Amino acid sequence: MTVFADIHIHMLCRTDDGPRTPEQMLAIFERAYAAGTRLFCVTPHFHYGLFGDNTERTRAAYAELCEAAARLHPDALVALGNELRWGPSAVEWLDRGACNTLNGTRYVLVDFHADESAYTIKNALYRLLNAGYHPILAHAERYGELYRCWDVFDELKNKGVLIQIDADSVLGNWTRQAKQMGLQLLKRRLADLVCSDAHDLTERPPELTQAFALILKRFGADYAEQLFYRKAAQIIFNRGAYEQP
Ligand SMILES: [Fe+2]
Repeated sequence: MTVFADIHIHMLCRTDDGPRTPEQMLAIFERAYAAGTRLFCVTPHFHYGLFGDNTERTRAAYAELCEAAARLHPDALVALGNELRWGPSAVEWLDRGACNTLNGTRYVLVDFHADESAYTIKNALYRLLNAGYHPILAHAERYGELYRCWDVFDELKNKGVLIQIDADSVLGNWTRQAKQMGLQLLKRRLADLVCSDAHDLTERPPELTQAFALILKRFGADYAEQLFYRKAAQIIFNRGAYEQP
């Protein structure tokens, strides 16, 4: 079985628009585990406007998930992160630990409103870099203002920003534009990570199998393995040889 690392997944109950109960939380974990995911970095939204201050709720749900995971599947590694919605106080939230970096590293999964300007996105990512963080742009294929902006992506990559795309987009389950953009980011080797961005078992499920098969076929085993396991294992979980981003 192919083993996956998923560092963008909404699996902590009562923290965001993901699972609402502990049972739903464990059902997502079980489904992902059955499909081969072994390294998890769970990333509830850190979005004051939508979900308020969920720092304590996140800690509580994470403790509950870790206890269950150790009992059910001790070979799975479950780490904590957040999906940071960019705002003027974002660096402060990170600095004081209200918003979690990925597994205690300097890597930060950051997202923006779908219609955010390229100017704002670029500036926000540079502010994170200047503050000593390594930003990972969440679902980079979904921002309308970055559509086909290859020069922007080249610039971001050169500065050290990592590009994450959603499995759902590649499979065509989001928008047509997101699918095109996702495939182009892969073709141009601009994408670093593919994750589930799962929220539930039906609309946005946690399995990575189908997207992995598609990418393996179209872009080859080496790149597919990097996208679905190796990169995350190295930079977030410090497993295997460290690879400079
Ligand atoms: Fe997400």
